[in-house]
Amino acid sequence: MTAIRVLPDLLISQIAAGEVVERPASVLKELLENSLDAGARAVTVALEEGGTRRVHVEDDGAGIEAAELALALARHATSKIASLPDLEAVSTMGFRGEALASIASVSRLSLVSRTARAPHASSISAEGGRVGEPRPAARSPGTTVAVEDLYFNTPARRKFLRSEATEFGHCDEVFTRVALARPEVAFVLKHNGRVSRHLRVQDAAERVAALLGSELVEAAVPVEAAASGTLHLTGLAGGPNVARTRADAQYFFVNGRFVRDRVLSHAAREAYAELLHGERQPAYVLFLQIDPRLVDVNVHPAKIEVRFRDPGAVHQFVLHALQRALSGGAAEAPVAYARVATQHAVASQGTFSLAQSVASYQPSFQRSEPEQRTPQDAENPLGYALAQLHGIYVLAQNREGLVLVDMHAAHERILMEKLKKSLDVGGVQRQALLVPAAFRAEALEVALAEENREVIERLGLELSVAGPGELAVRAAPAPLAGGDVVGLARGVLAEMREYGASRVLADRQNELLATMACHAAVRANRSLTPAEMNALLREMEETERSGSCNHGRPTWYQLTLADLDKLFLRGR
Ligand SMILES: Nc1ncnc2c1ncn2[C@@H]1O[C@H](COP(=O)(O)OP(=O)(O)OP(=O)(O)O)[C@@H](O)[C@H]1O
Ligand SMILES: [Mg+2]
Repeated sequence: MTAIRVLPDLLISQIAAGEVVERPASVLKELLENSLDAGARAVTVALEEGGTRRVHVEDDGAGIEAAELALALARHATSKIASLPDLEAVSTMGFRGEALASIASVSRLSLVSRTARAPHASSISAEGGRVGEPRPAARSPGTTVAVEDLYFNTPARRKFLRSEATEFGHCDEVFTRVALARPEVAFVLKHNGRVSRHLRVQDAAERVAALLGSELVEAAVPVEAAASGTLHLTGLAGGPNVARTRADAQYFFVNGRFVRDRVLSHAAREAYAELLHGERQPAYVLFLQIDPRLVDVNVHPAKIEVRFRDPGAVHQFVLHALQRALSGGAAEAPVAYARVATQHAVASQGTFSLAQSVASYQPSFQRSEPEQRTPQDAENPLGYALAQLHGIYVLAQNREGLVLVDMHAAHERILMEKLKKSLDVGGVQRQALLVPAAFRAEALEVALAEENREVIERLGLELSVAGPGELAVRAAPAPLAGGDVVGLARGVLAEMREYGASRVLADRQNELLATMACHAAVRANRSLTPAEMNALLREMEETERSGSCNHGRPTWYQLTLADLDKLFLRGR
């Protein structure tokens, strides 16, 4: 047996570094967070070879006193907290006093800094954790940190570094997360001498567009909700047409910090459940602001996870805020939002102090009032029907231009929302049929119909045995009575057969209602009168979630006159 020994300090640092400094992107994250904590208004990042050769971050923040430079590189030395109550209410990104020491132990690091009142800058360097003496240097107020040759002294770790392109990709992602949360700070990202991103001070929606593309912003609804003075959610929730196959555009920030959190992502998944088709992944950028005392950020070495004091309350709040934002009727559907979301006034600038904390920072996505509309338009945003195209689409004219509606998809959503409402208030109203509609049924279906009469009646259906191997629909759900009632009854029985009668109303209610609505919605090739088409448009305006059908496909599009002019190269 080997005797127990205390590990040398450097080795302890290197072990700790493993937790915080996984790759160049982790270095970049720590340096960017330090710059923001120092109140920087402009941050420039220069990477070489994906950051493996060099990560260089320069800011115009508060700077470090010459006498404290060595402390900045010492473990457990921080200017951000001094006590346990400070930690519990922490509002800065950093608080452990560990990042620079960890990075310094596995790289060649140099730090040049100057406070506003210092006559000149000072610098200090460290190589593999051995810290040199501070020296006078030249630079304007602010801080520059250069980290070179990551893992030069720990070859085993160095082997885990990936290709330059992969490491740069991780750095770009870290940069994106930090920059999304701080649109009031200007950022530049250079790689191997070339500028790869250049972000001026802008408003929150413009920042999202600059980093993730304007399509996302145009097809998103603004989210804005507050609860009990301790919770506040803002951001953009992408609509179905910017959903993706991978969950690669889901950004959740808690008090300005990017996090991966199951409570939050579950709430988002649930809010989108009815809007998205199959495995489609929503795109969103959401900022939750919460009293720092109600969330523990000290649970993960890289602070990418958090723990909420009351996860249930946060879940409910986020779920409902998102559901409300996403359920806007066609009167407020994504296309109508799009132009407005990007027209924001530039975020106000001001001086920063640590007291004006990260927690108080909250990007605003609030909508300014839509442009002037005539009174008529305000009432009927989807305009008036012009014609029906190939028995599938309704064409309408509104103030902006042309509206195209998939009539079956839109009608399906309207019916589904009606069914949902009536189920919520006790059950769907039944309408007796003048002539019962009989259909052939298997013995199992007959049995299901007899055993589950109550559930079936709550759904607005009345089925009875009409003879051997035969069922009859005697009453149909009132909103659907004009549709294919036999198809509808068969659909309900098929759902019950597959999932059990008790489950269809509990966890499969939406699927069941969608099936029912589909059987009753207008079919292709039914020609509609202008009055019917206008009635459809009016109902869409009133209906929640009418921007997408029950399967997550869009139900309508707006082609503006400007879009049409572009198509015809007019006015160029
Ligand atoms: N860019 C910077 N501008 C001004 N001060 C800085 C900067 N970077 C680091 N510092 C100072 O150095 C100290 C140590 O930084 P370090 O990142 O190691 O720890 P921290 O940010 O306090 O905590 P954490 O380990 O959680 O990041 C900070 O507390 C801060 O006072
Ligand atoms: Mg730090």
